[in-house]
Amino acid sequence: FAPGLLTGRRVVITAGPTREAIDPVRYLSNHSSGKMGFALARAAAEAGAEVVLIAGPVDLATPERVTRIDVVSAQQMYEAALARSPGADLFIATAAVADFRPAEDAAHKIKKQPGQSEMTLKLVQNPDIVAGVAGSDKRPACVVAFAAETQNVEDYARRKLSKKGVDWVVANDVSRTDIGFGSDSNEILLVGRDHSEPFGPAGKQQVARFLVEAFARSLGT
Ligand code: C5P
Repeated sequence: FAPGLLTGRRVVITAGPTREAIDPVRYLSNHSSGKMGFALARAAAEAGAEVVLIAGPVDLATPERVTRIDVVSAQQMYEAALARSPGADLFIATAAVADFRPAEDAAHKIKKQPGQSEMTLKLVQNPDIVAGVAGSDKRPACVVAFAAETQNVEDYARRKLSKKGVDWVVANDVSRTDIGFGSDSNEILLVGRDHSEPFGPAGKQQVARFLVEAFARSLGT
């Protein structure tokens, strides 16, 4: 990176899955590895930024000079993001947040009833974290969402840009099994308000460095 690319800048990143409790021993979650978010945290710290990484349950080491906040549920991630984003310059949402959570988190383990052959779990919607940050007072100058699509990648990314009120959407095609979720490499399309730029396939750390440079440019550094 150019020396001091993000020196004095504050960056907040969400990463990994969330876990939504059903009862004390069960939860709903997804297969997000958190690798892209951790790669971005490392790259932003290497560019000189002060980085806060809000991480769901993942099995990854914290990059050097990164402040990590561990959370479990989407609601905890939402609260941490809204607490940490005021005054930040850049907010990057890479987390695979559960869209819904069980309406009730049972205090005791749910028992099978004699003869029970099915069960219904009622879910309620979780808050949209990146849209909440993008619409907040003292919004970071640059807010970024990720989009996993299986078709019409640019079109859907552009819709997500305006729906969530963000400045950039990093889109990838998850119908491909060789890139994205869990993998070490990625091929992305960076979609902004007035232009888009493809990058990759490349290692996630290389993708992270490309993105950090693009976001730094958009912050005017
Ligand atoms: O709407 P969709 O889930 O496809 O959008 C994905 C983007 O929105 C990702 O950047 C993800 O981190 C973010 N998101 C969020 N809070 C949610 C759902 C998604 O911040 N509840």
